[in-house]
Amino acid sequence: MDKSAFELGRVHQLLEPGPVLLLATAGTQRPNVMTLSWQTMVAFDPPLVACVLSARDFSFAALQRDGECTLNIPGAELASQVVGCGNCSGRDTDKFTAFGLTPRPAERVAAPLIDECDASLECRVVDSGMVARYGMFIVEVVRAWRRGNGPERMLHHAGWGVFRVSEETLRLPSAMR
Ligand SMILES: Cc1cc2nc3c(=O)[nH]c(=O)nc-3n(C[C@H](O)[C@H](O)[C@H](O)COP(=O)(O)O)c2cc1C
Repeated sequence: MDKSAFELGRVHQLLEPGPVLLLATAGTQRPNVMTLSWQTMVAFDPPLVACVLSARDFSFAALQRDGECTLNIPGAELASQVVGCGNCSGRDTDKFTAFGLTPRPAERVAAPLIDECDASLECRVVDSGMVARYGMFIVEVVRAWRRGNGPERMLHHAGWGVFRVSEETLRLPSAMR
């Protein structure tokens, strides 16, 4: 693998822009992946992320059962795969094969890392208290990987097939880490 370990205390820097993610689960027959835009950081150390999944998603049951997933941050060049993974279900489709994505073994969880994504976070569910009401899983990032300085052009979902791509970087004297 050509990714190096990324400091857990900086994981929020990867997620703060709220990019569209690919959430991968191990599955019982084969690994699966879904598109997820409803996510946010909720704590720095350890890094906790809230992920909102519909109970209709095949991935919802997998995450409930396994208590593990990976959150993978795709660059804009993966836009068609991102939309594809969000438009069909792992119940009847092998999405890794269908969309040419490569599962790689993670270090701390059974769910795979997606090689084509420039950053990948290995996560464990630590709080299911809001799952029944909101479909909100609180996951802890237990290992994080990043390729180079990527991802530099992240996708942001504006609904109904509209995506914005983050490209410009501003450096300002902000006091927030
Ligand atoms: C851009 C985009 C963003 C999405 N965001 C979410 C989300 O935040 N939560 C969710 O439950 N589904 C979201 N979806 C829909 C799921 O990805 C979709 O229902 C998918 O088919 C679920 O796959 P699965 O059944 O294999 O788990 C999104 C879809 C797209 C295209």
